[in-house]
Amino acid sequence: MKVIVCEDYAAVSAAAADIIEKIVREKPDCTLGLATGSSPVGMYQELARRCREEGLDFSGIHSVNLDEYVGLEPTHDQSYRYFMNDNLFDHINIDKKNTYVAKGTGDVDANIAEFNAVLDKTDIEIQVLGVGPDGHLGFNEPGDTLYDGAHREVLDESTIDANARFFATRDEVPRYAVTMGMGNIMRARALLMIISGNKQEAAAKLLIQDKIDPRCPATFMRMHRDATVILEKKLADEIGYKG
Ligand code: GLP
Repeated sequence: MKVIVCEDYAAVSAAAADIIEKIVREKPDCTLGLATGSSPVGMYQELARRCREEGLDFSGIHSVNLDEYVGLEPTHDQSYRYFMNDNLFDHINIDKKNTYVAKGTGDVDANIAEFNAVLDKTDIEIQVLGVGPDGHLGFNEPGDTLYDGAHREVLDESTIDANARFFATRDEVPRYAVTMGMGNIMRARALLMIISGNKQEAAAKLLIQDKIDPRCPATFMRMHRDATVILEKKLADEIGYKG
């Protein structure tokens, strides 16, 4: 696993954008696996700038997202479809028809079946990841066992707490989500994780401990042949990561 320690969040975002840019230039018709959450927002802004000012071309790129809340319409400002449009797709020359975010409303089982069908025929070139404070990836919550494919997940109380900041009240945070499984994530050709925010516990388990722990799904990154983790020096120092 490659670990890049950067001075600040701007440098983290630029380093992550460099990795995505290289892939987009080398494989202009590939599929990017994308993530929501605040961690990749700076990278998305940097990619949008490079598209606008430097001609980085997304016209042939496809994308598939990690997850979606159950119960939120795509037009809801906290849905992950809305997030992706607002933070990236509306600012680059990607064809939105080539972007896939699982549906959160309607028949959940049918949505999961459709999500799995999309994933089965998609080769994800690189999967962008954030990490939850409890180590969740996408919405794969810690557990004794983890899922291979796309599925419905019951959100942990700590995840509801962590994501409540985006909603008017905690009660409005959805209790369920549909998410890629750990197998889908691990089958991406490359993984790119941005760790930002108060993630000391998850970061320490991932970067310091030599353990694969289903109680911290982020640790599965260690098993991937082409995984990169990018974090700020402040967080690296707080957990005593020396490289
Ligand atoms: C949500 C998303 C995850 C994301 C996590 C961390 O739970 N489902 O994919 O990694 O939030 O978000 P943030 O980057 O805002 O800390």
